[in-house]
Amino acid sequence: MYDGQPQLGRNDVCWCGSGKKYKKCHLDTDERLQALWDAGEEVPYRSLLKTPEDIAGVRRSAEVNVGVLDYVAERIGPGVTTADIDQWVHDYTVEHGAVPAPLDYEGFPNSVCTSANEVVCHGIPSSDEVLKEGDIINVDCSTVKDGYFSDSSRMFVIGETTPEKADLVRVCKEAMEEGLKAVKPWGHLGDIGAAVNGYAKAHGYTVVREFGGHGIGLEFHEDPFVSFVTEPGTGPILAPGLMFTIEPMINMGAQEIDMTDPNGWTVRTADGAPTAQWEVQIVITEDGYELLSW
Ligand code: MF3
Ligand code: CO
Repeated sequence: MYDGQPQLGRNDVCWCGSGKKYKKCHLDTDERLQALWDAGEEVPYRSLLKTPEDIAGVRRSAEVNVGVLDYVAERIGPGVTTADIDQWVHDYTVEHGAVPAPLDYEGFPNSVCTSANEVVCHGIPSSDEVLKEGDIINVDCSTVKDGYFSDSSRMFVIGETTPEKADLVRVCKEAMEEGLKAVKPWGHLGDIGAAVNGYAKAHGYTVVREFGGHGIGLEFHEDPFVSFVTEPGTGPILAPGLMFTIEPMINMGAQEIDMTDPNGWTVRTADGAPTAQWEVQIVITEDGYELLSW
């Protein structure tokens, strides 16, 4: 097959672990994938396509991830430090039999990324960072439970903010939702980024190019990279079983970012203007997608 794996016979047991015969399980899908490959399309290797068992595992992980974000939502407000949020995320996650995926991930020192105002992503929680009225902040939670990964993030507005910042937060969420609407099984990954970018641009904003979504499930970050500045009809085919995040970072000002913070993590907008991000995790199904984490 196109991915270097052996071609099964029609009566062999399917590779996906269902226990069914190949002809009653993945044969049709595999033929479709192979035909797309032969036609020159970018086709995800089948090792990236999640089995029903994988998806069930990720659902259990995502239940904790969604729970921790709900927990943060109930408590965040003026006077809270980002170190407090880190502690909540850590304790909630561990109490639910899981581990915060960021902890020690490539040297990341904490359990969650907290990215306020001009911080694009990968903000490190700190007891010196006290949230105040008018701040906008992304809290990005990722969980590993029984080896399965989940990842989503939300924006929080602290008290009342300016109409400009409130619009940025709202439009960023709507842009992510436009991306979701563009998800079509057997469509292209690039359709998602095109929808996000078009929506953000129409509102006078810019979309960060250097960071994006990613495959996820058995690892924190898997292929494919999910860009939000793509053209429609480009990129990998959205084959059923493909699992990834949609997590655009949208800037009020210029598109450029600053990655020179000596801590090696915190990413800021180059012009210091506010930025926002929302993240969901989905898996492509036969007739659409399943929202796993939000
Ligand atoms: N949660 C981030 C994402 O959405 C990844 C953060 S990596 C970390 O992909 F180490 F900073 F946690
Ligand atoms: Co992510």
